[in-house]
Amino acid sequence: MRIAIASDHGGFDYKAPIIAHLEQLGHTVSDFGPADAQSVDYPDYADPVARAVSTDAADRGILICGTGIGMALVADKVDGVRAAPIQNVNFAHLFRQHNNGNVLCLSGRFVTLDDNLAIIDEFLTTEFEGGRHEARIEKIMREDDPAFAGVARS
Ligand code: RB5
Repeated sequence: MRIAIASDHGGFDYKAPIIAHLEQLGHTVSDFGPADAQSVDYPDYADPVARAVSTDAADRGILICGTGIGMALVADKVDGVRAAPIQNVNFAHLFRQHNNGNVLCLSGRFVTLDDNLAIIDEFLTTEFEGGRHEARIEKIMREDDPAFAGVARS
């Protein structure tokens, strides 16, 4: 898989070992920075990764900040992206199986590296289940359409 990755200072220490893990598994990794652990603004790093997934320059994205939350908030605003902060393997499984998630947002401060690697493995190997979840995904993605006026209430 082609995987785009970035962090902020809160996730920087995990970025290199995660890249090494991904490359060992045979994935092609594009590193969108940063190059060191200096304090940066996570939106500046979430955005290019999300856009790489949105434009099909990458198959999946991985973002690491202190909590994963800020990265997910930014990435989810980009067309075609389904991003979420994920802290355990069960959530990683369901994020793929039910939500067809394409940008995984990890915590560099509250989840160990080993646990994050297990989360990544689950994210990369679990298939979207489809079926009843297809229509729900379509309803998530209609929020990207500026012409969508919202769900009518009766
Ligand atoms: C940076 O201090 C921190 O806010 C960031 O890494 C992330 O946790 C934001 O959601």
